[in-house]
Amino acid sequence: MADNSTQEDFKRVAFVTGASRGIGRAIAKRLANENRHVVLVSRTESPLNDLAHEIEQAGGSASVRAVDVGDGEALAGAIESAVKELGRLDILVNNAGITRDNLVLRMSDEEFDDVIRVNLRSVFVAIRAAARPMMKGRFGRIVNIASTSGLVGNAGQANYAASKAGLVGLTRTIARELGSKGVTANVIAPGFIETDMTANLPDQVKDGVKAMMALRRLGTPEDIAAAVAYVSAEDAGFLTGQVIAVDGGLTMC
Ligand code: NAI
Repeated sequence: MADNSTQEDFKRVAFVTGASRGIGRAIAKRLANENRHVVLVSRTESPLNDLAHEIEQAGGSASVRAVDVGDGEALAGAIESAVKELGRLDILVNNAGITRDNLVLRMSDEEFDDVIRVNLRSVFVAIRAAARPMMKGRFGRIVNIASTSGLVGNAGQANYAASKAGLVGLTRTIARELGSKGVTANVIAPGFIETDMTANLPDQVKDGVKAMMALRRLGTPEDIAAAVAYVSAEDAGFLTGQVIAVDGGLTMC
């Protein structure tokens, strides 16, 4: 495991969206374990308070911001207030995401726009707010959680796949714009991971997906958290603009 201890006497601060459950929760716990102070972000406060308590019981530190990431002003305000309170921002994990699946012929403008607003526009807003404090610290790790749907497409997910593919172009542009300031930006693209988002898929669909995967199993939130820990590590400063598919060998692209 990477050595994440810093020379100075401070903790790196990580801002993790969608931290109330699933992949975001696992990411928050993993980063807290790696001695980061974690700002837990999601729409409702009580699961975040429970998680903050759990992290503190385990010897870590966390704070909570209840924000709808689809509300750009509120999201930027949460980042600004975290920087004010904690004095720095080092790691931004844009994980919050939604699906509104439908075949393209039936998909409404609203279904398309909602997904783009929550999954893509929010990430642009968060990066814009986080860039200045990261540049000031001459250190930053931006990690955007996309999806293999955004790399290879997925029937019924025109909105979702477009939002996740958009993250790839956004991330690579940010990597180029901020690289000289010590800020990296990378995409983690999960395959099928066992969370609430995939809980309602019929077993038949899950079995079909497993058969296409080299590892023949669905992923866990911890599988994704491990990849986020890797790209946000202290010594990952030469890794930027990359898309890492963590998908059990589903796409290999
Ligand atoms: P989930 O549905 O279990 O959790 C999503 C989290 O995002 C929750 O904490 C939820 O409260 C939060 N969230 C949703 N909309 C929000 C909003 N408007 N404002 C603030 N918070 C909001 O989802 P899961 O599975 O943990 O997914 C996390 C990320 O991973 C998403 O971006 C998803 O697209 C991506 N992903 C998931 C895969 C899977 O198989 N579960 C596969 C590929 C990507």
